[in-house]
Amino acid sequence: MLNKNILLCVCGGVAVFKAAALTSKLVQQGANVKVIMTNSAMKFITPLTFQVLSRNEVYVDTFNESNPEAVQHIDLAKWADITIIAPATANVIGKIANGIADDMLTTTIMATVNPVIIAPAMNVNMYNNKIVQENIDRLKKLDYIFFEPSEGLLACGDIGKGRLLEPEDIIKNLNNIFNESNYFNGKKILITAGPTIEKIDPVRFISNFSSGKMGYALAEQAARFGADVTLISGPTKLPPPKGIRLININSAEEMFEAVKENFELNKIIIKSAAVADYTPITIEDNKIKKKSNDMILKLKKTTDILKWLGDNKSDKVLIGFAAETNNVLEYAQDKLQRKNLDYIIVNDVSKEGAGFNVDTNIATLISRDGTKIDFPLLSKKDLAKQIMEVLYEKVVKDYDTR
Ligand code: PMT
Repeated sequence: MLNKNILLCVCGGVAVFKAAALTSKLVQQGANVKVIMTNSAMKFITPLTFQVLSRNEVYVDTFNESNPEAVQHIDLAKWADITIIAPATANVIGKIANGIADDMLTTTIMATVNPVIIAPAMNVNMYNNKIVQENIDRLKKLDYIFFEPSEGLLACGDIGKGRLLEPEDIIKNLNNIFNESNYFNGKKILITAGPTIEKIDPVRFISNFSSGKMGYALAEQAARFGADVTLISGPTKLPPPKGIRLININSAEEMFEAVKENFELNKIIIKSAAVADYTPITIEDNKIKKKSNDMILKLKKTTDILKWLGDNKSDKVLIGFAAETNNVLEYAQDKLQRKNLDYIIVNDVSKEGAGFNVDTNIATLISRDGTKIDFPLLSKKDLAKQIMEVLYEKVVKDYDTR
C-alpha cells in the first residue's frame, strides 16, 4: 500500500462505518487516501471523520471549485492509482452502469481510466434484484472489478448476501490487485487475435467466425498484469484495448509480415488468431460475374505462421491455440510437437459455449512435458486471467534467466 494513491468513494448506507475503518487502515499502511462522499453518505457520517482519518480534504460537491487551477473531479480521477467505491449502493451501481454522472462521485468515476473497484453493500433482496444484477453484469463486462459482499445478518435484520466486506478483506484484495499488476513487470508479449480475411475479388472474401474476443481478453489481461503488449489483430468489431499497441491487419500474409516485424522484440508469443489455412491463388481485379451453376475457386496454402515461429523461436516462449472438433487432445498434441511450441491451448469448438464468437470458452492447456490443465466453462475474460496466472507461474518467474 505504501505511497499508493487510493480514492475511496463512499455512498449512503449503514456500512459507511466500515469505510471509516478502511480509511484508517489504509493510511496506517502508508497509502495516500482521498475520499468522496455522496449526499446520502453524509446523512450517516460527517465528512470531518474522513478528513481526520485521511488527513485530506473530503470531496462532496462537483461545483465547489475553490481552486481555479484544478477541475476537481478530473484531477481526482487522474490522481488515483485505484478507486474503490465502498459501500456501493444499488443506486450508485445503477447510475454508473447507465452512464449517469450527476454528482461528485459519479462524475469522477466517469472520468477515471485506472481500475475501479466496486464493493456493494445492501439488503439481500436489493442485491438479488434482477436490475441490480444486470447492472453488475454490465459493469463487470466493462472491466469494473467487484468485491462481492459477504453473507450474514444484515443491518435490516434479514439474513443473506449483502454485507460489505470487512476492511481487512478489502485491503487483502487490494494488495492482490497491486501485486498482480506487477506480475509481468514490463515484459514484452506479442498476441495475435481475430480472423484473417482472404480476398476473392473486390467485393468478396473467405474468412471464419473468430470475433477476436479470446485474443483481446488475453491481451487486456496481460496488460493488467503489467506486460508490454503488442496485439496483431484481424478485422473485429471490438474497441481498441487500452494501453496496448494494436496493429490491424487483414490477410494471413499481412499477419505473417506483422508477426515477423515484431518477432525479435518479444519473448513471449501467443497465437490465438484464427488464421486462414488457404487463400485464393489470384484476387480478381473485377467482381466475378455469376455464370454457370457451379464454380471452382482455386486456393493455395498460406504460410503457417505458428510453424515459422516454432522453427525460429530460439529462447522465446511460444504458445499456440488449437480449434478442434474431434480427436481434440490428440490433434492438439500433434500441433504442439510439429510446430515446436512450449504450450498449446486447445478448445473443442463443437461444444456449446466454447470457441468462436461467444463470450465464453472451455479449454485445456497442454505443456511440452505433457502436463494438462483443464479450464471449465468460463467467460473469456476469466479464462484469460487464469491462463495468464499459469504463464506467470510457469514462464515469467524464470524469464530473466532465459
Ligand atoms: O476470436 P474468438 O471468437 O474469441 O474465438 C476464439 C478462437 C476459437 C479463435 C480461439 O480460441 C482459437 O482457438 N484460436 C486458434 C484458431 C485456429 O486457427 O486454430 P488451428 O487449430 O486452425 O490453428 C492452430 C494454430 O496455428 C493457431 O495458433 C493459429 O493461430 C496458428 N496458425 C494457423 C494457420 C496459419 N496459417 N498460421 C498460423 O499461425
